[in-house]
Amino acid sequence: MRGKKVLTQDEENGASFETAASRPPPRDERKQVPLTLVVALAENGVIGNKGTLPWRIPEDLKRFKALTLGKPCIMGRKTWDSLPRKPLPGRTNIVVTRDHGFRADGAEIAHSFEDALGIAALGMPDEIMIIGGAAIFASALPLAQRVELTDIMVAPQGDAFMPPFDRAQWQETKREGPYEAGALRYAFITLERRQLR
Ligand SMILES: NC(=O)c1ccc[n+]([C@@H]2O[C@H](COP(=O)([O-])OP(=O)(O)OC[C@H]3O[C@@H](n4cnc5c(N)ncnc54)[C@H](OP(=O)(O)O)[C@@H]3O)[C@@H](O)[C@H]2O)c1
Repeated sequence: MRGKKVLTQDEENGASFETAASRPPPRDERKQVPLTLVVALAENGVIGNKGTLPWRIPEDLKRFKALTLGKPCIMGRKTWDSLPRKPLPGRTNIVVTRDHGFRADGAEIAHSFEDALGIAALGMPDEIMIIGGAAIFASALPLAQRVELTDIMVAPQGDAFMPPFDRAQWQETKREGPYEAGALRYAFITLERRQLR
């Protein structure tokens, strides 16, 4: 739910009222927790359409749950809005928004991708899951160690696209499928970054 808040002049001017003690430390001062992107991707780069997924693949939703359960999940505000059930149960939900008045029951709010990483790392997880959408994938991709990809062999209409990524930098370490869901074919693929930056 989008909360309305009257901003003070300082807030409108972008002043921050966080103290140094409450603000998460910058990422390079923390133990670097591996980032994993979880993305269902069509062959034309589409990941979403009109605020939702352009396909329905129950096995993909089950895999998503298995991959993310118990872990911090970072998502953009539009992906949060798109969730049929909020928050994702059994996971720390972290929603990134520039809107300082935004409130999301059951989720942590971050006002930058960096701050989202800081919040996610506070529980000292083994892995931080990046669950979309396009804007958040674009921020996370240069830092990610792993991509858990559902490769969907279809080219649907869409308005949200995965940022292009160079597959030569990634090694396929696992592949399952192809499977079928009605007329759709899809495969589950794990990609690991060949070389850490
Ligand atoms: N296929 C998949 O795997 C997959 C996964 C997730 C989502 N999706 C689909 O993707 C679509 C949503 O993706 P999207 O790209 O449109 O939106 P999104 O990435 O989920 O959210 C974008 C919003 O996140 C906030 N944001 C992004 N970067 C930020 C930053 N650096 N600092 C602060 N806030 C930031 C902004 O929120 P404010 O506007 O509130 O400031 C921005 O408008 C939906 O169709 C959804 O179903 C698909």
